[in-house]
Amino acid sequence: MRFSSLRGMQDIIEEIHLWQHIENNVREIFENYNFQEIRTPILEKAEIFLRSIGENTDIVEKEMYIFNDKKGRTVALRPEGTASVVRAYIQHGLFNNPAPQKFYYIGPMFRYERPQKGRLRQFHQIGVECFGVSSSFIDAELIYMLKIFLEKLKIKNLAYEINSLGCKECRAQYRKILFNFLSNRVSRLCDDCKRRFERNPLRVLDCKVESCKEALKDIPLILEFLCSDCKAHFLSLQKELDEMGISYTVNPKIVRGLDYYTRTVFEVTTTMLGAQNAVAAGGRYDDLVESFGGPPTPAIGFAIGIERLIELCSTTLTVNPKRPIVYVAYLGNDLRTEAKKVVNFLRENNIPTEISYEETSLKSQMRKADKFGVKIVIIIGEDEIKKGVYKWKNMQTGLQGECSFQELIDLIRRHNDQS
Ligand code: HAM
Repeated sequence: MRFSSLRGMQDIIEEIHLWQHIENNVREIFENYNFQEIRTPILEKAEIFLRSIGENTDIVEKEMYIFNDKKGRTVALRPEGTASVVRAYIQHGLFNNPAPQKFYYIGPMFRYERPQKGRLRQFHQIGVECFGVSSSFIDAELIYMLKIFLEKLKIKNLAYEINSLGCKECRAQYRKILFNFLSNRVSRLCDDCKRRFERNPLRVLDCKVESCKEALKDIPLILEFLCSDCKAHFLSLQKELDEMGISYTVNPKIVRGLDYYTRTVFEVTTTMLGAQNAVAAGGRYDDLVESFGGPPTPAIGFAIGIERLIELCSTTLTVNPKRPIVYVAYLGNDLRTEAKKVVNFLRENNIPTEISYEETSLKSQMRKADKFGVKIVIIIGEDEIKKGVYKWKNMQTGLQGECSFQELIDLIRRHNDQS
């Protein structure tokens, strides 16, 4: 009987070095912008997602891993990170700390979607959330930081698209206009959009079905209905982005699949990923902290899909995995104590080293060393020990010699640097 992983959930084995490289860059770059890491639980009360992402979104209606625990509490595997970070921000009174409070996270998210290229049921996000700044300066800076990060990973051909969804007031106004417009065309919409029309009319804007696109060609767009404050915020964002030298397009059809957004929303897409073309996405959620019982707090964030990043940079980036440089071979169990002394010494000096855990012939140990691709083998033999030395062999050049314990580190570094 053999088990396999669940559909849409992957083991990360071969590509782990790329993952680690990406994660190291997240920490390095984001911390330069004063973001601190936050780790929240993977399982939360389901209600926090229903209340933030929205009851009438695809995520909540169809995609949540939601179940009752042994006490009958309804819990969910987090489908995204923002709601949990907002919950933690309020629960720990972080609004009492000086603003801005900036957090980043790296971790698994769960959505019960139909698995396909670029779409998994357990996927991973790098996310950031920033609390306490309403100025569009931070909106632009987040997009800039994202761009710096993606460039560091040598990802090219990305499109940056922005939009504004307005605030509670102007969006309510727009919804009414949209509702009236759609009322005359419901019969021409796909089944999904018919449902959206009733419950979440904004979502018809990003429907990919051709007949819907055709029926909605002259749909009124939110940008025409922004109130003066939202309009000013959106214009100043564009000015900031221009100043920072970021090329972007305004796409008034970006509405996002989560209900908490207000004002700025943005997506970073690529033509290299097929249908699932969004690498990163985010926006402002100025009302969410208050709606969770916290003080009114402007906030903004984004998340990057790590699997999609990996897909993009697996062709452009080579990350050399840390492999053993040295293999310590020993001729018989009587010499194992000496061999262990050498192995421990090398490892403590940051030289990745491997050894045989079973007593085997020198020939078989040399074969193993070759398979591991080490640079140098140190051979512990009876005759050499008597002389106070070890034998060594450079596996690439075939050069051999003898060295003392004190000379080991220098010798290995010299041979390792040469290749
Ligand atoms: P989202 O657009 O739902 O936003 O997800 C962000 C990114 O996660 C997507 O652009 C995509 O790269 C990746 N992603 C989403 N679903 C999947 C999937 N099933 N398989 C693989 N990758 C996927 C959010 O989650 C918001 N919390 C972002 C945010 C943070 N907004 C403000 N702060």
